[in-house]
Formats: sequence, structure tokens, C-alpha cells
Amino acid sequence: MKFKHVLVCMARKPNPMMPSCGSKGADQVAMKFQEELMKRGLQNVLLSVTGCLGACEMGPVVVVYPDGVWYGNVKPEDVEEIVEKHILGGQPVERLRITHPIEQMGV
Ligand code: FES
Repeated sequence: MKFKHVLVCMARKPNPMMPSCGSKGADQVAMKFQEELMKRGLQNVLLSVTGCLGACEMGPVVVVYPDGVWYGNVKPEDVEEIVEKHILGGQPVERLRITHPIEQMGV
């Protein structure tokens, strides 16, 4: 299995009325990734928590590199499927994929 980098946005906005991954359970998603990666002893997968990735309405947001696959509205119960199918199996979990808002604008 090739190296993978999993980014989990954990940002919280100063204005709690604005959507953010951190206010929608991203900490639980990150913890579940940590658990699943450790359980499987996946040493060639790097997990990083990040600031805002610019897709706040779709949070919690997860990105898997080098594949450049974006996931949105990720819940802790989705993490095992992402690890099994995508990280280990190489097949993105289509039902969770999102297109970044900038890409949607055709920029
Ligand atoms: S707060 Fe996560 S993408 Fe903006």
C-alpha cells in the first residue's frame, strides 16, 4: 500500500452561527481515524488535523492525498468504510465524495 495522507478539518469559526467542521463533530471523526489506523498498524498513513479547508458547509471535511479525494459530512461511523475501501482498497467511498466549492465554480 502506498503512502496516504489523511487531512481532517477541525476548524471552528469565531462566529458560532457560521458552519464549521469543528462544530459538527470533526473531533470525533479525527479520533475515529486515529483508532482505526492504530488498530490496523498502518504506519504509512499520516493523519493530520487542519484549519479551514474552505468547504465549511459540507463539514466535517476529510481529504485523502495523494488521491485528492474530498469527503464531506463525514461521521465517525463512516471512518471504518473510508479506511477499508479507500485507504486499504484504493476505491474512494463515492457516497461521501464532494466537489470543493471552488471547483464547482469552474475556477
Ligand atoms: S471549517 Fe472545515 S472546511 Fe471550513
